[in-house]
Amino acid sequence: MDTTRADEDLLSGRYKDRQEWPDNYHYKDIKGARYAQVMRESGGLPALALEIGVGRGGVAVAVSRQGPSVIGVELSPDILKKAQAYARNTKVKLLQGSGFALPIRSGSLPLVYASQVLHLFDSPSRRAVMDEAFRVLSPGGRFMFDMKNIPPHIMGYLSSSPEKRKRNYPPESELRSQLKDAGFSHVIIKPGVMPLFGWTNVPGLLRPFTHTSFYVATRG
Ligand SMILES: C[S@@+](CC[C@H](N)C(=O)[O-])C[C@H]1O[C@@H](n2cnc3c(N)ncnc32)[C@H](O)[C@@H]1O
Repeated sequence: MDTTRADEDLLSGRYKDRQEWPDNYHYKDIKGARYAQVMRESGGLPALALEIGVGRGGVAVAVSRQGPSVIGVELSPDILKKAQAYARNTKVKLLQGSGFALPIRSGSLPLVYASQVLHLFDSPSRRAVMDEAFRVLSPGGRFMFDMKNIPPHIMGYLSSSPEKRKRNYPPESELRSQLKDAGFSHVIIKPGVMPLFGWTNVPGLLRPFTHTSFYVATRG
């Protein structure tokens, strides 16, 4: 079994168990607003965006409120049902599928993003998602994702096994070099949000203390 297939099997089991977790749409609203803000700051809001691993749809709905239509792709059919309920009467369309093999034509999208997804994968599978995003983007298209910062997650970081740390907190240098190897030509990194204060527009110097850092990579 290849790595991406094994990851799909593992993750569909892991997230099935989490279906009953309480919804946190308040945080997703803040985070989606920040995604839209970073899109605006890094080249403008696209008419259409695709979210890999849309989950229950909170971020996608918040992004769509700012203008873009969103295609949300989700691996788990059970989680997709929750997203379908939440995204009813919005500009979010949902598809079941995998971020390793998106059901989308090559070179057809201006922007792909993955909120709270890339930390789920070991390095080869993370790279496979980057390759797939690159495939479906049109020239000049952008791939955005966010990765956890260590300071706000210090307890989780210290209590993680070395393998989990490598997966959850890959160094910026590794992510930059993976993006370059996947073909992306330009990468910028922006602060994420401080959910406790509801802050979406955090100054750059405070980036390590935001919940996650936002990466924007451009397909040349
Ligand atoms: C932590 S949740 C994030 C959900 C959403 N993006 C958000 O920020 O609220 C990760 C989601 O990715 C989905 N997922 C995991 N592996 C995936 C894959 N290979 N393709 C598509 N979705 C995947 C999981 O089922 C889960 O719903």
